[in-house]
Amino acid sequence: MTLTFPEGFLWGAATAAHQVEGDNTGNDVWAVEHRPGSPFSELSLRACDSYRRYREDIGLVAELGLGAYRFSLEWSRIEPAPGSFDSAALAHYSDMVQECLARGVRPVVTLHHFTSPQWFARDGGWLSPGSPSQFARFCESLSNVLHEVPVVCTINEPNVLDEQAHLLADPVQPAQASLARSHLLRAHELAVDVVKGFGVAEVGLTVSMEEVRAVPGEEDAAEAYRYRKQGSLLERLRDDDFVGVQAYTAVLVGRDGLVPPAADERTTQTGWRVAPSALASAVREAAAVTGRPVHVTENGIATADDQQRIDYMTSALRGLHYAIEDGVDVRSYFAWSLLDNYEWMHGYGPTFGLVAVDRQSFRRQVKLSGAWFAGVARTAAVPA
Ligand code: FCB
Repeated sequence: MTLTFPEGFLWGAATAAHQVEGDNTGNDVWAVEHRPGSPFSELSLRACDSYRRYREDIGLVAELGLGAYRFSLEWSRIEPAPGSFDSAALAHYSDMVQECLARGVRPVVTLHHFTSPQWFARDGGWLSPGSPSQFARFCESLSNVLHEVPVVCTINEPNVLDEQAHLLADPVQPAQASLARSHLLRAHELAVDVVKGFGVAEVGLTVSMEEVRAVPGEEDAAEAYRYRKQGSLLERLRDDDFVGVQAYTAVLVGRDGLVPPAADERTTQTGWRVAPSALASAVREAAAVTGRPVHVTENGIATADDQQRIDYMTSALRGLHYAIEDGVDVRSYFAWSLLDNYEWMHGYGPTFGLVAVDRQSFRRQVKLSGAWFAGVARTAAVPA
């Protein structure tokens, strides 16, 4: 028995600029990586060298038979100083879009994936009252990049970014995170208007979601956690074209907060519970709260065991299929990630990729899971 996905369902793979491009010397994360006592375990350095090798990366997406590539723009390259735009960087991202279109791959473009220019961060980052209009000014520079792009994600995971809102300063306090959240939502609204003006059909943002489990008797605490983490953001997205769901794991909430995985529970290279059920749970919740169509903009697992990736994704996709059967309008599934890349504070240890990248030569090698995912995309099906 196989579970076949609906006609037109889009299969893709995702990356983000700072995690793959390399040498993003002008952004806030780069600055923090280089600070003494930095919480980043490694420097990003040349990452996957994708700023140079993007044609090869898009070629891999096409060769795997995937219909879409989600990638992000690096704001600090495009606007290296306030109000001054780099035409070579803009041309670079236009080339990426054109290369996708030429290879029959739909470009799904994220405008902001965690990193901001250092000048923006020095101004207070997302805590600054001017941040939404600064972001809108950046978006206005993108008409030539975006006018043939079908789907745009404005901001990646505002419900994670709000707590990193001012990376160059001290960790943000809860009240500051809520101020940052309101600026991020305003920036999103402004960006939607700008990008819609370029003719982009579908504009939304992506939400970091978890399957929230309760210690028996602690259901109220779990519900409060769920609302804080994701419900309150989802409620604000009811006017968008879609909601982007990114789900990897399950958390357990007890009286005193999150309960770490028990010694006998399986965890990933990032220390997360292995919980493929998180995807269906997140998709159902996102659709129920927003009433909007869903794009699964990220799902995957950090593991050195490629068979474990295949098993995890198979299980996640089964759950996704059952959600679709139950009437949830899901349009796409993007594997995180196309490449083994720079996993933020964890550095290069965790491997989420369908494709391995040699850290010296940057040679790409499709993994078994990449070949397996190509088969899923070709048949639009997983075994029941
Ligand atoms: C998501 C991020 C993405 C990647 C995955 C593992 O929260 O959007 O950049 O790091 O987690």
